[in-house]
Amino acid sequence: MTKKTQNALDRYGPVSRRAFLARSGAGALALSLPSKLVGAEVGSSKQFALSAGKSTVQLVSESHPTTSVWAYNEIIPGPEIRVRQGDRVGIAVENNLDEETTVHWHGLRVPNAMDGVPHLTQTPIAVGGNFHYQFDVPDAGTYWYHPHQRGFEQVGRGLYGAFIVEEQEPIVVDRDITWVLDDWRLDRDAQIRNDFNNRHDASHNGRVGNTVTINGQIPTTLNVQQGERIRLRLINAANARIFNLEFANHEPWIIALDGQPVEPHHSPTNSIVLGPAMRADLIIDMTADPDQRYQVTDSFYRDLEYTLIDIAYDATARREQLLDTSMSLPLNTMPEPEWAGIERHEIRFNGGMMGNMMMSGNSGMNMMQMMREGKMWTINGVAASGHVMDPLLTLKQGRSYHFELLNDTAWHHPIHLHGHSFRVVSRNGKETQHREWQDTVLMAPEERVGIAFVADSLGDWMFHCHIFEHQAAGMMGVVRVST
Ligand code: C2O
Ligand code: CU
Repeated sequence: MTKKTQNALDRYGPVSRRAFLARSGAGALALSLPSKLVGAEVGSSKQFALSAGKSTVQLVSESHPTTSVWAYNEIIPGPEIRVRQGDRVGIAVENNLDEETTVHWHGLRVPNAMDGVPHLTQTPIAVGGNFHYQFDVPDAGTYWYHPHQRGFEQVGRGLYGAFIVEEQEPIVVDRDITWVLDDWRLDRDAQIRNDFNNRHDASHNGRVGNTVTINGQIPTTLNVQQGERIRLRLINAANARIFNLEFANHEPWIIALDGQPVEPHHSPTNSIVLGPAMRADLIIDMTADPDQRYQVTDSFYRDLEYTLIDIAYDATARREQLLDTSMSLPLNTMPEPEWAGIERHEIRFNGGMMGNMMMSGNSGMNMMQMMREGKMWTINGVAASGHVMDPLLTLKQGRSYHFELLNDTAWHHPIHLHGHSFRVVSRNGKETQHREWQDTVLMAPEERVGIAFVADSLGDWMFHCHIFEHQAAGMMGVVRVST
């Protein structure tokens, strides 16, 4: 892998990592999350307060101006909410933006009324208004929260945070670290470019930025010790960027995907692919010698590889022998889909640019009309406008379903179902090895993905592409679960 710094990514302006780092000194950036969070225990429930508003942060180094952002509690990422499996959680959200908002608890199986979808599950939180979310957390794992109102801009400007649910009995590690990954489209003055939701992004691969941050900072170094075992929780909070992370001489174990335990395994390519909204929990044993240095690289987009961060070993070892304690996480509480009598549906995704051709299941006339309205994508032939619509499918509570997702486009799409996790059972007709539970599944161009789940939670649930520009341009539907 050629070593490129982040300026290799830069299609929009010279926001180079080297320039940003020029005056930031040799010291490692602290990659711990800020703790500006009001957390209190009231009775049996844990209370938090989030305020969505405008803020300025030092996103890039001090040799550059601060960046104006929208943030929760004024920090990027928003405060990490950390609770324990089975807890009851209350979150008071205040809206100090100039527009309506909501908060969606991505991947958490909350009751429909707490799901944070504007107009569908709640009235949006008015400017100056507030809303009190309250729910139990049935499953342990790595989740996140973000607005569901104009996500392309609200999330794109910085509204997101990690939501970690600890196991009742966590596995043994030396450190438990969260990396919230994001990318930004910055101009020369380190300000966020205003070109949100433009037609080009919407019809291609979404708003891919030019500056990648971990926990709101341009990362430099992760300091480690030989023999150390790290649990690394990755969260992709980017609007559109897909990551393919390689950890040089290290072989991370994947122990959970989208918060849900999976049999610990190495990826066949030894790299971790993470589409927007997806999470992975890794165990990384620091197997190299003291004083060594390695690069974590991201090589998803061809010819745009760059070094995300360095792993730097201390001069002294933590221990001689690696830990050999179990890294298997206890299963969560999802019901298993029943294969006998499972009900099958096909869901077809169309649209987007392909050379000069729109790939669409619709007629040419329809397509022109759609494009005039800024709609570029369809699910089963329908381009959504807004969150309220007729359901794509109505499911019966308690029944098992198999969806065959057909990506009839030339693009990747991370497809997210609210309120449920599903097993990814096949890709292009071939059974998956781990039948992983996910709430967001990345479909490659032209790929067919089979998912299975029990429709156990009542209500209208969003089912959409998590590239926010695709979602806004129509790639969104509703799945209804009724009695
Ligand atoms: Cu992460 Cu419908 O959202
Ligand atoms: Cu998409």
